[in-house]
Amino acid sequence: MRLSGKAALITGGTSGIGVATAKLFVQEGAKVAVTGRDESKFDEVRKSLGTDALIIKVEVRSLADVKEMSRQVGDRFGGVDIFFGNAGRALASPLDSTDEALYDELMDSNVKGLFFSMQAIAPLLREGGSVILNTSFLNSTGRIGLSLTAASKAAVRSFARTWSQELLPRKIRVNAVSPGFIKTPIMLRMGMSAEEVKTQQAGAASIIPIGRMGEPEEIAAATLFLASDDSRYVVGAELVVDGGISQL
Ligand SMILES: NC(=O)c1ccc[n+]([C@@H]2O[C@H](COP(=O)([O-])OP(=O)(O)OC[C@H]3O[C@@H](n4cnc5c(N)ncnc54)[C@H](OP(=O)(O)O)[C@@H]3O)[C@@H](O)[C@H]2O)c1
Repeated sequence: MRLSGKAALITGGTSGIGVATAKLFVQEGAKVAVTGRDESKFDEVRKSLGTDALIIKVEVRSLADVKEMSRQVGDRFGGVDIFFGNAGRALASPLDSTDEALYDELMDSNVKGLFFSMQAIAPLLREGGSVILNTSFLNSTGRIGLSLTAASKAAVRSFARTWSQELLPRKIRVNAVSPGFIKTPIMLRMGMSAEEVKTQQAGAASIIPIGRMGEPEEIAAATLFLASDDSRYVVGAELVVDGGISQL
């Protein structure tokens, strides 16, 4: 029970890495609030997290939504010990065919959404708290057609450094977790068919040094480490959990 008595907020906590992390946090004794946009998933998420979990409909690109998120979390928990800024997208953005709408959708979801979620939650963070931001192994590599996803995640990585400086006086640590290719619905949302996702996943496995894609639970375990006092001396860092793809 490494998170006993702690209150945690996870944005994008209704799917993939976010919901796997929420489940682990509940098992470790935390009270959990999760956000998502697609309300059709909420019943299932409530079943897996228990009736104590707070589930809030939030579009992170909307400042009104993130302020309301903060209000509801404050009302329920009084304060927040752990904030996992996880909501985000991955979309192809070829240089020659990306329009302004796609640019805004991706950058606003991954950068603006995180910035203003953090701004809204920061006043609720308690002394001794931990913030974990979900970046990506793409933040420091170049991959054809993924410039905006990579650049947005480099911004997320950068936030972890500056926000660490800004929040350390309040004894709040900020770190980033950096997943590689993880089996979640994220690829389906890139507009690929189930068949194309299968082919992509098989191709991905062949270029990952460890020989397979990652599971959401493997990112959850790393996030738990950063959330808990086990990582009390880790500040402004990036924990890479990618089967070696960015390192070997
Ligand atoms: N899977 C990977 O291979 C991988 C690799 C590196 C980094 N990541 C990062 O890990 C994080 C979680 O991804 P995942 O793989 O678990 O994907 P996922 O299964 O698609 O989950 C994404 C979550 O974020 C929410 N979300 C997305 N855009 C949002 C927005 N504009 N406003 C509010 N909520 C929004 C989604 O809510 P709805 O379902 O309601 O839309 C969902 O709960 C993302 O930041 C992603 O970039 C993933």
